Amino acid sequence: MKIISLIGARPNFMKIAPFIRAIKNHNKKSDEKIEHILVHTGQHYDIRMSQQFFKDLNIPPADIHLEIGSGTHAEQVGNTMIEFEKVIKKEKPDWIVVVGDVNAICAGSITAKKEHIKLAHIEAGLRSGDITMPEEINRLVADRLSDILFTPDRISDKNLLKEGVPKERIKFVGNIMIDTLENEREKASALEIRNIIKKNLIDENHSFTVPNINKFAIVTLHRPSNVDHKEIFIPIIDFLLNDVASDFHIIWAIHPRAFKQLEKFELLEKVKSCSNLILLHPIGYHELLKLNMDAKIVLTDSGGLQEECTVLGTPCLTLRWNTERPITLREHGGASVLVGNNVEKIRQEYKDTLSKNTIPLSPELWDGKTAERIVKIIAEY
Ligand code: UD1
Repeated sequence: MKIISLIGARPNFMKIAPFIRAIKNHNKKSDEKIEHILVHTGQHYDIRMSQQFFKDLNIPPADIHLEIGSGTHAEQVGNTMIEFEKVIKKEKPDWIVVVGDVNAICAGSITAKKEHIKLAHIEAGLRSGDITMPEEINRLVADRLSDILFTPDRISDKNLLKEGVPKERIKFVGNIMIDTLENEREKASALEIRNIIKKNLIDENHSFTVPNINKFAIVTLHRPSNVDHKEIFIPIIDFLLNDVASDFHIIWAIHPRAFKQLEKFELLEKVKSCSNLILLHPIGYHELLKLNMDAKIVLTDSGGLQEECTVLGTPCLTLRWNTERPITLREHGGASVLVGNNVEKIRQEYKDTLSKNTIPLSPELWDGKTAERIVKIIAEY
């Protein structure tokens, strides 16, 4: 059997690593070998956004690199389709596997089905209900076209059933990202915060004191809805500098999109001049995991981080009005609370959250064995 999996951006890498490992394990035990071809669109191309994760998570180099790079959504999706079609025609796979919700999966799913190839979507059924999010469009397309939909939780199963997806296509297997978390936990906990900061400082001359355990906040922001509009981004920055930085150290591992916007809105110097704020380049998987283990609170708009906070028990303010991952919310026992991007609301929830304790929670089948279940189901299909 021949499988092609398609990845493109940072959040794909921690999800594909366990899948590739599970294929290798399958091949050791089974006579029915799986040939796997890894295709990278190149949407994320910086070393810190891409190659570093391959190295850290032992992902073999991509067999085929489409070199699409960034661009408008139509450019990314269109160019990926053009290049990926050539790969499919040449390789003639039995299956195409897509993970998550980035532009690659939308392009990959359409191209796969137009070439009559069986399609599997890992992390199917997540719905924010917000069609203005490019990721929601990508999820809808992949789930509509997939032959097998691997879901991370029971809420996702229900979403799919409501949309009319036949029951037999839906396979509840758990969260593949947690396979990576469990596999890498030990390595991450051995890292030192001082070294993480020193290695990743944006301004190498920034003198910093190393924050103690439970005495710092982590910030990550990248969604267009938060960082692309001055009238939203500036009040968030002011809140971070005036409120959070007066309580704690802040460690902000900044995404390229947010960095560009800081420069564009002439906010970079202001941010850099806050002595309690440590501005870092995008950091490695283990580095963020270690920071998350030791942080008092996380302020983020990342879906993956919401999940990791839930499993680690780190209180998480999610700067969004909706989430495709309701299982991570406090009302479901998780660590995250939706605070949108209105600063009054953020401030109120920030104070409330600091006064509460969060306990680690592993939802059903978030047990580190999701990839194994996925490979078994595909092999037996
Ligand atoms: C993408 C995903 C999003 C995911 C996020 C995580 C889609 C629709 N969005 O958003 O779901 O949560 O990645 O990181 O697929 N850039 C660099 N270096 C890089 C990559 C990007 O400088 O390695 C720049 C781009 O040129 C662009 C900006 O960062 O100006 C944003 O990149 P883009 O690929 O458009 O989307 P993300 O915001 O990263």
